[in-house]
Amino acid sequence: MKCFLVIFLFASFLFISFTSFSNRFIWFSPCSDCSAINIHNSYAYSATVTNNINEKDDITNITHILFGIGGSAKTWNNRKNYSDLWWEPNVTRGFVWLDENPGENDTWPEYSPPYRVSEDTSAFKYTCWFGDRSAVRIARIVKESFELGLENVRWFVMGDDDTVFFTKNLVTVLNKYDHNQMYYIGGNSESVEQDLVHSYGMAYGGGGIAISYPLAEVLVKILDGCINRYHDFYGSDQKIGGCMAEIGVPLTRELGFHQMDIRGSARGLLATHPLAPIVSLHHLGVIHSLIPLMDRVDSIKKVIEAYKKDSSRTMQQSFCYDVKKNWSISVSWGYSIQLYPNLMNGKELETPMRTFETWKGFEEPFTFNTRPNYIEPCQRPIEYYLDRVFELDNGETLTSYKRIGDYKKQCENENYSPALAIQMVNVTANILSPQVWRQVKFSFVL
Ligand SMILES: *[C@@H]1O[C@H](CO)[C@@H](O)[C@H](O)[C@H]1NC(C)=O
Ligand SMILES: *[C@@H]1O[C@H](CO)[C@@H](O)[C@H](O)[C@H]1NC(C)=O
Ligand SMILES: *[C@@H]1O[C@H](CO)[C@@H](O)[C@H](O)[C@H]1NC(C)=O
Ligand SMILES: *[C@@H]1O[C@H](CO)[C@@H](O)[C@H](O)[C@H]1NC(C)=O
Ligand SMILES: *[C@@H]1O[C@H](CO)[C@@H](O)[C@H](O)[C@H]1NC(C)=O
Ligand SMILES: *[C@@H]1O[C@H](CO)[C@@H](O)[C@H](O)[C@H]1NC(C)=O
Repeated sequence: MKCFLVIFLFASFLFISFTSFSNRFIWFSPCSDCSAINIHNSYAYSATVTNNINEKDDITNITHILFGIGGSAKTWNNRKNYSDLWWEPNVTRGFVWLDENPGENDTWPEYSPPYRVSEDTSAFKYTCWFGDRSAVRIARIVKESFELGLENVRWFVMGDDDTVFFTKNLVTVLNKYDHNQMYYIGGNSESVEQDLVHSYGMAYGGGGIAISYPLAEVLVKILDGCINRYHDFYGSDQKIGGCMAEIGVPLTRELGFHQMDIRGSARGLLATHPLAPIVSLHHLGVIHSLIPLMDRVDSIKKVIEAYKKDSSRTMQQSFCYDVKKNWSISVSWGYSIQLYPNLMNGKELETPMRTFETWKGFEEPFTFNTRPNYIEPCQRPIEYYLDRVFELDNGETLTSYKRIGDYKKQCENENYSPALAIQMVNVTANILSPQVWRQVKFSFVL
C-alpha cells in the first residue's frame, strides 16, 4: 500500500493518492510530506478467491433483473426526476406501476420506465387507520410483475418512485447470491422507532426489495391471502414481510440498501458508508441536498458522475493522518472529504456524525452508532464536496473536492488556520474492480 500526501499550504491544495486497492482499513504509507499512521495492516485481502465458482453464463447482469416501481399517474411528472437518474432505457428492464392510466393527452416521458396499470385492488381488506390502501396495490407489484411471465428473470427488485438505484452495485450484490435459491434481500429503516413499529425482519420498500425468482414463485401464490391476513399492516413492504414469515425465508440484510428514514442532512451518514457497495438511496426529496447549496437532483447527478467512473468505490470511506500537523482526513470517494485539524482514531472516524434526526424528528436512536454533530465550530470538520471527476490514462481516477461554506467566520482557534488554507482536495485512486466485493465475501465465508 502506497500513498502520498503532498500538502501545499500556500497553494491551498491537498493532494491524496491511492496507488493500489485500499479500503478504509489499509491506508497509506509512506506519505511524502507526513508520516502516516498505518492502521490495521492485517486485513485479509491476501486470502483471495480460490474458487472461481461462476461460469460466465451464470453471472447475473442487469438484464436478469426486473424492476417494479410503485408510482401513480398524477405524481409521475415530478417523481420521474429520480428514475431519470438511474433508469437506462432499453438496458434496465421493468415497469412503473400506476394506479390509473396517464391523462389521455399526456405523452409518457421517453426516458421513463414503461408503465403498467395495476389491477383493481378494491376487494382487498385494508384497515390500518394511519395508512393508505395504495399499500395493497404496491404490495402486488411483485405478483403482477411475475405474472407477466418475462423470460430470463432471476430477480424481482421493487422500489419506490423516489428511490435511486445504483444498478451496477445492485448487480454486484445480487451476484453474491445464488438466484436459484430463495432470497429476500434488502435493508431496515435507520430509525429504531420505525423498526419497532414496522419490523426489523423486513426489507423496507423505499430502500428496495430484491426477491429471487424461486422465492417470487412461492410468494405470488400466497400474496393475496397475506394481504388480507395482514390487513392492519401499514405498508406494502410490511405485508410482503408478513408473507415471508409464513414462507419461512428470513431477510438477508445488505448494508448498501438505504431506506433513508432520516430527516436533515445525510452527509454524516454518507461520509461513513459501511464497507459495502452503495445500492440505493431513498427519500432524496425529504433529506437535504447531498451537497450543500446545490439543487437536490443536481447533487445526486454529481455523485453519479463519479459512480459512472468507479461504481465500486463510490462512497467508500478511507482515512489517513498527517501526524506532523495533527490532521485526520476522511474520504468518502466520489462524494465528500472531512478534514479534522486534530487526531481521531479509526473507530471515531467510521462512526456517522449526527447531521440528521430520526424519521419522527428525535435526536436518536438509530440502528447504528452515531457521534454528535458538534455545534462548537472548532470541533467541526472542514468539509469538501465532489466537484470534478476525471478518468486518467493509467486506469486511475482523479476526483477534486471543493470546500463549501465559510469556515473562517466559524473558528478562530490557531490550530485551525493551517487547515483553513486548504480550499480543495484532489484524490487519485485506482479503479476498484467489483470483483473485490466478492473477495470480501469469500474471505469472510471461507
Ligand atoms: C446477460 O447475460 C445473458 C446470459 O445469461 C446474456 O445473454 C446477455 O447478453 C447478458 N446481458 C448483458 C447486458 O450483459
Ligand atoms: C423535476 O424536473 C423538472 C424539470 O426538469 C422540474 O421542473 C421539476 O420541478 C422537478 N421536480 C422535482 C420534484 O424536483
Ligand atoms: C429503445 O428501443 C426501441 C426499439 O429498439 C427504440 O425504438 C427506442 O428508440 C429505444 N429507446 C431509447 C431511449 O434508446
Ligand atoms: C385531449 O385532447 C382532445 C383534442 O385536443 C380534447 O378534445 C380533449 O378534451 C383532451 N382531453 C383532456 C382530458 O384534456
Ligand atoms: C500534535 O499533538 C501532540 C500531542 O497532543 C502535541 O504534542 C503536538 O504539539 C501537536 N502538534 C501540532 C503541530 O499541533
Ligand atoms: C487538482 O485537480 C484540478 C482539476 O479539478 C486541477 O485543475 C488541478 O491542477 C489539480 N491540482 C493538483 C495540485 O494536482
